[in-house]
Amino acid sequence: MSMIRSVIRGYGACLPRRVVTNSELEGVVDTTDEWIIQRTGIRQRYIAADDETTCSLGAGAAKAALHKAGLTAADIDLIIVATSTPDNTFPAAAVEVQRRLGMKHGAAFDVQAVCTGFVYAMTTADAYLRGGLAKRAIVIGAETFSRILDWEDRATCVLFGDGAGAVVLEAVESSGSFEDRGILAVKLRSDGSHKDKLFVDGGPSTTKTVGHLRMQGREVFKHAVGMITDVIESVFEATGMDADDIDWFVPHQANKRIIDASAKKLGIDPNKVVITVERHGNTSAASIPLALVDALDDGRIKKNDIVLLEAMGGGFTWGAVMVRW
Ligand code: UT7
Repeated sequence: MSMIRSVIRGYGACLPRRVVTNSELEGVVDTTDEWIIQRTGIRQRYIAADDETTCSLGAGAAKAALHKAGLTAADIDLIIVATSTPDNTFPAAAVEVQRRLGMKHGAAFDVQAVCTGFVYAMTTADAYLRGGLAKRAIVIGAETFSRILDWEDRATCVLFGDGAGAVVLEAVESSGSFEDRGILAVKLRSDGSHKDKLFVDGGPSTTKTVGHLRMQGREVFKHAVGMITDVIESVFEATGMDADDIDWFVPHQANKRIIDASAKKLGIDPNKVVITVERHGNTSAASIPLALVDALDDGRIKKNDIVLLEAMGGGFTWGAVMVRW
């Protein structure tokens, strides 16, 4: 049956200039390089300077993705930014990225699903493209979590980093076969009853402040693997594929232990898992596109590969996307 598929045409990343190592954080809070590596796999993260914002990093990633796609902003009619750390409460970060790309046409809006933001944004763009509402979309995950961290809370401030990644999606006619390229299946989930386990303790309508990230790490950890494997199993069901059919597993990069445990439970070969958490830390909605760009730039992910994206985070929200690259 003929249908529209969202095919990935380009990809790009933009990281802040400054790298902060675990050893540097030993001078900020009571922590050690050894604890951070052992519990999370993180060795360093990028932290944005005052002149580097979610929108400047997002626009940098978008420009790189357009360049890779051989397209210009004139070819795009939809921009979606996944972020929980916009430059302003409004307008949306996507509109500022649109301005920085020199665009005055099309539509731009943000999606807020915390660490699952990129998966939600890909799913939203896919629905727009398949529904005929847009022809080409830039989907961006961009964050400056360093701005909402409590730099006196060692249990959270060592975990996160800043950055942005983007992909360009294009609506392409497909026979509907899973042999054709593009997004093959998407699954999104959320459950607001877990709010207190991972949230920001401020906001315009409550405290009138931005607030700081608060997390009961052990509680989040307890739920993560089950939720991740559950949503991936429903993507397997939707496509009739299983762990052996996956060429590359690109999970949200929160903690290497969570990634390893999820891959093991699902039976995914560790050699197929893309891991960047050691260099980027947890960059929330930016973590999946940053990891994708890594594995594309070094030639691991190739055209026609089956790539499985997955994330879980605040809300809780969680979800997965299966793509034939
Ligand atoms: O991206 C959104 C989703 N988020 C996640 O997936 C995060 C999920 N959670 C995690 O990744 C882990 O729970 C953490 C990395 C946050 C923590 O690892 P853990 O093994 O669960 O440690 P814990 O919270 O149980 O803390 C163990 C100990 C505690 O000391 P006591 O109570 O055993 O004496 C903490 O106070 O480690 C202590 N601790 C630290 N020690 C040195 C907490 N943070 C630090 C630190 N340095 N930075």
